[in-house]
Amino acid sequence: MFFTTPLFSAALMMLTSVTALPQPEAGGLMGRQFSCPSGSYQYNQTACVACPAGNTCNGGSSTPQPCDTGLYQPNSQQAFCYGAPKGRFQQQSGKSFLCATCCGWAATQDNNNVNPVNCTGSTPYAWPNSGDGCISSPTSCTRAATCAQAADGTCPGETVRG
Ligand SMILES: *[C@@H]1O[C@H](CO)[C@@H](O)[C@H](O)[C@H]1NC(C)=O
Ligand SMILES: *[C@@H]1O[C@H](CO)[C@@H](O)[C@H](O)[C@H]1NC(C)=O
Repeated sequence: MFFTTPLFSAALMMLTSVTALPQPEAGGLMGRQFSCPSGSYQYNQTACVACPAGNTCNGGSSTPQPCDTGLYQPNSQQAFCYGAPKGRFQQQSGKSFLCATCCGWAATQDNNNVNPVNCTGSTPYAWPNSGDGCISSPTSCTRAATCAQAADGTCPGETVRG
C-alpha cells in the first residue's frame, strides 16, 4: 500500500531526498540491505515511507509494526507507542487513539490499560473516564451495560486523541 495523502506524500519526498539510498545496479539489488531513518519503513528497495499513526517503525523493517493493545500512537513517523493511562483503554492493536471508560466502568492501571473493569459488588459505581476505580456512592451518570470497542475500533464513549 502507498500513502497518497498530502501528509504522507510530503513525508516520502522529504525522506527520499535526505536519505542516501543504494541505487539499482547491474547484478540486481535483491537481498541487499539498507536502512531507513527511525520513524519510517522500507517501502521498496529504494524508498522509505513515513510510519503511519498507530504504528512504530525502527527504520529497519519493510512493514510498520502496529502498537500493541493497551498502547497507541496518534502521530505518524514515530518509533514508539504511548501507554493508555488511568481512565483510558485500548482493546485493539494498531490504533492512533484511546477510549475513555464508560459510566460504571474504570481503568485504574497507571498505564497500558487494555480492558476497562466493570464495577460490581459493593462498589458498583464510577464516573465516565474513571481512573480512580470503582466507588460505592451512586453517580448521576447512566451505567453503560457494556464498555467494549466495536469491531472497527469505535469507542463506546469518549474518543481521546493525542
Ligand atoms: C520505490 O517506490 C518509489 C515511490 O513509489 C518509486 O519512485 C521507485 O521507483 C520504487 N523503486 C523500486 C525499485 O521499485
Ligand atoms: C457489569 O456489572 C453489572 C453489575 O454491576 C452487571 O449487571 C452486568 O451484567 C455486567 N456487565 C458485563 C458486560 O459484565
